[in-house]
Amino acid sequence: MASIAAGDIIRPTLKQHWFIMYSVKTQIFQVDSQNPQPQTIALAGKIIRGGGLVAFPTETVYGLGANALDPEAVARIYEVKKRPSHDPLIVHICSLSQLDLVANGAPPLAKRLAETFFPGPLTMVLKRSAQVAPNVSAGLETVAVRMPAHKIPLALIESSGVPIAAPSANLFSRPSPTSAQHVLDDLSGHVDVILDGGSCPIGLESTVIDLTSETPVILRPGGAPMELLIQHVPNLQLSQRYLEAQDGLAMPAPGMLSKHYSPAAKFLVLKGSSQNASQRAREAVAALISLGYKIGLMLTDEDADNFSGLNARLVKLGSENNLEEIARNLFAQMRALEKMDIDLMLMRAVNPQGIGFAIWDRLLRASEQQVYDLDDPQAVDLLLESVKTAKP
Ligand code: TXA
Ligand code: MG
Repeated sequence: MASIAAGDIIRPTLKQHWFIMYSVKTQIFQVDSQNPQPQTIALAGKIIRGGGLVAFPTETVYGLGANALDPEAVARIYEVKKRPSHDPLIVHICSLSQLDLVANGAPPLAKRLAETFFPGPLTMVLKRSAQVAPNVSAGLETVAVRMPAHKIPLALIESSGVPIAAPSANLFSRPSPTSAQHVLDDLSGHVDVILDGGSCPIGLESTVIDLTSETPVILRPGGAPMELLIQHVPNLQLSQRYLEAQDGLAMPAPGMLSKHYSPAAKFLVLKGSSQNASQRAREAVAALISLGYKIGLMLTDEDADNFSGLNARLVKLGSENNLEEIARNLFAQMRALEKMDIDLMLMRAVNPQGIGFAIWDRLLRASEQQVYDLDDPQAVDLLLESVKTAKP
């Protein structure tokens, strides 16, 4: 059998298609995130132009990139991620002039926001230009656009000469990857090249804002804090599905947020920061352990002492006073903890201000909104009852 080189694309025949996914030998290149090596970038750019898949770091999370103008290449992204075809992708650009290639008549507000927030963790939904492959947008008339603040993707887009469609480089519904190893864990053998530029400085995905409706709407909270955006967009709204969560840690209606960012083990969120809440958190964990559950805890440095002496696996997220640090560590620590042979993962909610609101959103999704309010004396009983009656 002929050997397979990076960039070779194995195209299954129609008959084989049900058995073989887009399958390649994945090559990993170390790239200097401050000074990307031009030869490596040129090679990766060529693979993008040829219809292949390249994973790369951004300031938010790793992306799985393909030529946004090539529908076949874009189809491969959905295939290898096992992503439903109705969930649209973000197009990454490297200059403001590419905005007009990708979007059809970006409104003045979009131009202003681009001048302020690009490059950076903001994605704008605009009208799609005819040049962008329709499957990038899952057939919608709109397109999501962002310019990453990271030298590797900027160099890659420039070198490939095309805008790059890229979702986060994880398997569908898994936590987003913040290192090259995470990409490899999920997509080895299904992506031509992984550019390893170290870990991602923000660690959570970009904020997505829809500028196609009369009132600008935040569709997903992320790296660009709402408090900052609202200074530039005074009539900014939060997507309906978040409105119930707006007053802090209240819950959106069940089912409003799709399952996402999920670790392998069941994930529960504990909210409440009073002294009572801390005691109840310890009580709940101790009770679960005595029932025979193997527990994994994701804790702030300050909170870790509350659980000392308990037979639980524990990962630290950083200081509760440094939400940026917690955001940066969140997905990586979810992935680290799930490898530790546990049945249940628990994390205490953080202050939902600034990037904390994006953290809160990811916790709601990872837990499928299983949040227990430990300021409520009933919470421990409710939690134990629900864990005991849950299907294995
Ligand atoms: O930080 C990020 O945004 C990362 C890096 C790689 O850039 N990308 C990322 O992509 O998180 P993904 O595919 O995991 O999330 C894209 C989000 C989804 O929630 C999707 O529904 C939304 O953007 N989106 C994309 N195109 C859209 C459109 N035309 N209209 C509404 N929402 C859209
Ligand atoms: Mg994603």
